Amino acid sequence: QSLAEYNSFGIAVEAARYLAITSEEQLKEILPKLEPPLLVLGGGSNILFTEDPAALILHNRIRGREVVQQSEEDVIVRIGGGEPWHQFVLWTLENNWGGLENLSLIPGTVGASPIQNIGAYGVELKDVFHGLEAIDLQSGETLHFTAEECAFGYRSSVFKTTLKGKVMITRVLFRLSRKDHQINTDYGAIRDTLAEWKIDHPGIQDVSRAVIAIRQSKLPDPKVVGNAGSFFKNPEIEAAQFQELQDRFPNLVYYPLPDGRYKIPAGWLIDQSGWKGQRFGAVGCYDKQALVLVNYGDAKGTEVVELANRIVDSVEEKYGIRLETEVNII
Ligand code: EPU
Repeated sequence: QSLAEYNSFGIAVEAARYLAITSEEQLKEILPKLEPPLLVLGGGSNILFTEDPAALILHNRIRGREVVQQSEEDVIVRIGGGEPWHQFVLWTLENNWGGLENLSLIPGTVGASPIQNIGAYGVELKDVFHGLEAIDLQSGETLHFTAEECAFGYRSSVFKTTLKGKVMITRVLFRLSRKDHQINTDYGAIRDTLAEWKIDHPGIQDVSRAVIAIRQSKLPDPKVVGNAGSFFKNPEIEAAQFQELQDRFPNLVYYPLPDGRYKIPAGWLIDQSGWKGQRFGAVGCYDKQALVLVNYGDAKGTEVVELANRIVDSVEEKYGIRLETEVNII
């Protein structure tokens, strides 16, 4: 099975063993017969294949959207892990349910969204998360997780650490508002876009449209140019290192964190190190957002990794900060 269509980087690798999973029952029945290693694949939008995977690919295609609880104020929905994220967000907006508008147009699937606690434009998945169901790939047991048990952090959760590769997330539950929606326009670009459109009292649909416009202006469409969004995480540094850096680089962009440390946008560091818009054969650093590495055609995963390594080394040399990848490299 070619995986070229199943990863947003568009890397043409072949899976010798591949299974599409469409229901919990199917997975439970077949699990005892499967030979490890297993690799769960969702929308393939946060993964970079550097070789043909030896693992059996379990492609999460579990669908379904249902309302499981409703009050005057809010609604709890339970969504199949294989549902495309953005289509799910559009469905919530059609129903006038609030909470996901800032997370519009993120590629990938619902089942993958908790793994790295997806976030954008001032909102993270954990803000609307109610719970999830997963299947233990060893025992076949159904597991239930609360938000606390998921241990969400910045671009992280228990599914990236202790439970990495051990479960398939089959259903995710979200709590969304039915009225008095909390509009989040903290992010400057959203405010600017709405002001430009002369919208003074934005609703959730307006915020969604603004986010879509911003994303389309900065981020490459994976259907046109292969990519996996942000390739690196934004590094967090200690106050002492921050002071020293700010003395040396007065134009440093930063966000103070509640714990006294500072987050520095990796895109800025990469941009300032001269990589933005550079192309090397089939791979490159995107010209509108330096945090995104792109496949212009028939790139190999190893070529992307080579470029990433060169970027990491050059940023470290200039700023003393070692960037960590956000994308899952296989
Ligand atoms: N910047 C530059 N040059 C660049 C890119 C960014 O100078 O080429 C500067 C910008 O001027 C800005 C700052 O860096 O001051 C931050 O840039 P931006 O607002 O574009 O966001 P980001 O920190 O680069 C993060 C997320 C994105 C998310 C946006 C919006 C991470 C790793 N990335 O990017 O998430 O959409 O914020 O909230 O946290 C993703 O995870 O795949 C992703 C796209």
